[in-house]
Amino acid sequence: MNVDPSTELERSRSNARARQTWETQAVGSQRATAPKGSRAYFEQIRDYRYGYETPFIPTFFNFADMRGKRVLEIGVGNGVDAVEMLRCGAVYTGIDITRNHLDLARRNIELVQDQNLTGRVENIVEGDLLEVSLPGNYDVVYAFGVLHHIAHEAEHLRRIYELLRPGGELKVALYSRYSFFNLWLVLTWLLKNRMRNTLEDWRSHLAECSPLGTPVVIKIRSKAEIQSLMARCGFEVVRYGKKGFVQAYLPGIGRFLAPDGHILNACAGVLGWYHCFICRRA
Ligand SMILES: C[S@@+](CC[C@H](N)C(=O)[O-])C[C@H]1O[C@@H](n2cnc3c(N)ncnc32)[C@H](O)[C@@H]1O
Repeated sequence: MNVDPSTELERSRSNARARQTWETQAVGSQRATAPKGSRAYFEQIRDYRYGYETPFIPTFFNFADMRGKRVLEIGVGNGVDAVEMLRCGAVYTGIDITRNHLDLARRNIELVQDQNLTGRVENIVEGDLLEVSLPGNYDVVYAFGVLHHIAHEAEHLRRIYELLRPGGELKVALYSRYSFFNLWLVLTWLLKNRMRNTLEDWRSHLAECSPLGTPVVIKIRSKAEIQSLMARCGFEVVRYGKKGFVQAYLPGIGRFLAPDGHILNACAGVLGWYHCFICRRA
């Protein structure tokens, strides 16, 4: 097979940057005070995720509909969504390039094994989707906050297309350019960082906790840009929502508003940080 050397280089650089950040610091771990990997650690991360920052995840992505379905998750993080999908009966495979996250996801799943999970784990795999062999024919591929960190994302999407069964669904959340959080990132870059670092570096530092000087890849885009990418890779969008507007964005009144209530959801529809897409393999 002929491999384009520039693509190979881009892929290895992007993955090296991701490993550099997430092998040492687990995503969202700044939200937990309990020791890493403990039951309390996962509970704190889960509470922040579903109780504050992204409460829409299980409903928007319809985890309840995953019973008996073969689900492939790309970028497992702490395994919080994995556990939720297993509770809903998914037959789960997770893939990630960092051992740190795979170990955490495994541990999180192990800790809830006594809770009568109706789903089961089929496989947990280390590596890049383009470099590992998977059985395919998945009903759902799910990736929350992952593809925008992958420089070779279009190749990933083509591989996802091959791995989904015909009519299978791709469920993704990707960063939005026109968002409150991005506006805040730019303002703090101008006023606090005073442009000492590049905006990319600053954005990665604040959004992903990467040390300054070693940013991870972050793509922020409009809805139309992502829709066109999806169409090029063979996906038809069946549901879209702009999400991710938290109480803290509205000082004073924000804390009185329900994290998944009408007001914050209406604000998210305009200035949310995530484009959430459910797509069908055309
Ligand atoms: C921002 S975190 C999101 C994790 C999780 N989905 C969540 O929402 O908490 C990005 C995840 O993607 C993983 N990742 C980055 N590049 C990857 C790649 N090429 N293949 C698989 N996983 C990757 C990282 O290790 C990390 O677990």
